[in-house]
Amino acid sequence: MAGNRTFTMIKPDAVENGHIGAILEQINASGFRIVAMKLTQMSKRDAEQFYAIHKERPFFGELVEFMTRGPIVAAILEKDNAVEDFRTLIGATNPAEAAEGTIRKKYATSIGENAVHGSDSDENALIEGDFHFSGREQF
Ligand code: CMP
Repeated sequence: MAGNRTFTMIKPDAVENGHIGAILEQINASGFRIVAMKLTQMSKRDAEQFYAIHKERPFFGELVEFMTRGPIVAAILEKDNAVEDFRTLIGATNPAEAAEGTIRKKYATSIGENAVHGSDSDENALIEGDFHFSGREQF
């Protein structure tokens, strides 16, 4: 059975460009309930740990640099079929390939600076949510 929670980050590019409000509005309007949320900044160590799965990729250094350059909004979202529905809402990793109306199509500028993160599995949603939030910050 598909899980009902996913984890997201509004990334530094979208925060810098003033899109927090519009993105949260679209997330709410799409039926997701925010069950944890904060404005925070990842340290280099945080980002290296969070993205450890990508550490052999050529873009890893760039990714860590980008994700640590300013604040992000971290949140846990609840909805039936949350992981898959949220990935549909945000669109393809590369905004040039993202469907019309998706969050990345509207607010992302490149494959690296792509505005939002969405967990890719129920298992990772749990791991990523717990990375950013203690139990008593999750409602
Ligand atoms: P996301 O899918 O949220 O998590 C992994 C991130 O790595 C991805 O978003 C992009 O920000 C980044 N990424 C993926 N592919 C590339 C690439 N080819 N060049 C630069 N960054 C990338």
